[in-house]
Amino acid sequence: MAVYNTKLCLASVFLLLGLVLAFDLQGIAAENLTKQKLNSKILQDEIVKKVNQNPNAGWKAAINDRFSNATVAEFKRLLGVKPTPKKHFLGVPIVSHDPSLKLPKDFDARANWPQCTSIGKILGLGHCGSCWAFGAVESLSDRFCIQFGMNITLSVNDLLACCGFRCGDGCDGGYPVAAWQYFSYSGVVTEECDPYFDNTGCSHPGCEPAYPTPKCSRKCVGDNKLWSESKHYSVSTYTVESNPQDIMAEVYKNGPVEVSFTVYEDFAHYKSGVYKHITGANIGGHAVKLIGWGTTKEGEDYWLLANQWNRGWGDDGYFMIRRGTNECGIEDEPVAGLPSSKNVFKVDAGSNDLPVASV
Ligand SMILES: *[C@@H]1O[C@H](CO)[C@@H](O)[C@H](O)[C@H]1NC(C)=O
Ligand SMILES: *[C@@H]1O[C@H](CO)[C@@H](O)[C@H](O)[C@H]1NC(C)=O
Ligand SMILES: *[C@@H]1O[C@H](CO)[C@@H](O)[C@H](O)[C@H]1NC(C)=O
Repeated sequence: MAVYNTKLCLASVFLLLGLVLAFDLQGIAAENLTKQKLNSKILQDEIVKKVNQNPNAGWKAAINDRFSNATVAEFKRLLGVKPTPKKHFLGVPIVSHDPSLKLPKDFDARANWPQCTSIGKILGLGHCGSCWAFGAVESLSDRFCIQFGMNITLSVNDLLACCGFRCGDGCDGGYPVAAWQYFSYSGVVTEECDPYFDNTGCSHPGCEPAYPTPKCSRKCVGDNKLWSESKHYSVSTYTVESNPQDIMAEVYKNGPVEVSFTVYEDFAHYKSGVYKHITGANIGGHAVKLIGWGTTKEGEDYWLLANQWNRGWGDDGYFMIRRGTNECGIEDEPVAGLPSSKNVFKVDAGSNDLPVASV
C-alpha cells in the first residue's frame, strides 16, 4: 500500500511538472507513442499507397532508401527540435519587412547566389538529433557567402558539443533560437577546425547503438589554426514575423533561414511534389533550411527547403511544402541572424567599412 501511495504521489508530481512546463514552452510537442509503435518500421507500404492514390495529395510517396531499415524510434531520434523555453525569446526581436517590397513569384537562393555553392549542399546528420544545429549552421554559412563573398563551411560540431544546456540537449534535441544566440556570443569555428563527429553514416544494422553527443574539445584538429582564430560570429539573432511575405522578404534580402515544423509519419515517405500532411502520427519537431519559394503549374504555392537526411531521402535531399497555410507549423518560427565581419577580415581599418546588410 505504501509503495502504491508513493507511486501515486510521484505521478501527480510529474503531472504538475508537466503542466508547469507546458505553460513555459513554445513549439512542437510530439504524441506519446506506444512501445509497439516505436519498434515498428517507419516506412510502410500502406502509407505510400494512401498518399499516391489520393488525387488531392499534391505529392508522391516512396520507400526512401535513407530510412528503409529504420524503426519509428530511430527516426524519431533525428527529430531534434524540442519545445523552446519561452525565456530564450526574451530580447529577441521579431523582424518584419517593408510590405511594399516587390518579390519575385519564384525564388531559389541557389540560382540567385550561384557563387555560394554551400546553399545547395545536402548534408547528413547521421544518427543524432542535431537538426536544430544543422539548420542554423548551414544558413549562417550561406549568409557569410552572400554578404562577404566567401566560401565557408561552419562547424555543426562546435555548436552541438559546446553550446551545452543553453541549446538544449545535443543529439537528443535542441532549440534553434539558442543556436543563433550562440553565434553572437561565442561564434562558431569552421568545419575544417572541428569536423562533424558522425561521418560513418548508418552502416550498422538498425543504426544502434545511437551515438552520444560529442564532447566539446575547443581545439582545432591538426595544428594549423587556433580555435579562437577560427571563430565566426553573427551580429544579431532574430525571429522573422510569422507570415509568408516577411519570410520571403527575409530570404530574398539576406539569404536562407532556419525553420521548424512538425513531422508526421507520412513525411518520412516524401519523394517529390508539394508536401502537406495526409496521414500518420506526430513523431516530433524538425528544423531545416528554407531556400526559396514558388508556385506549381497546378497553382499550388510552396516553400523550397534543404533537409539533412542525405540525398537518399526525398527529392535528392530537398523538399517542397505548402506555402501560406502554415502547413505543419512551418511558418511559425523562422530564425536567423546576420554574419559579423569580426575576426574574419584582418584589415583593421577596412572592417568597419564593409557593407552591412539591412534587416
Ligand atoms: C503524453 O504524456 C504526458 C505525460 O504522461 C502528458 O502530459 C501529455 O499530455 C501526453 N501528450 C499527448 C500528446 O498525449
Ligand atoms: C537493410 O537491411 C538489410 C538486411 O539487414 C540489408 O541487406 C540492406 O542493405 C539494408 N539497407 C540499407 C539501406 O541500409
Ligand atoms: C566557391 O567555390 C566554388 C567551387 O569550389 C566556386 O565555383 C565559387 O565561385 C566559389 N565562390 C566564392 C564566392 O568564392
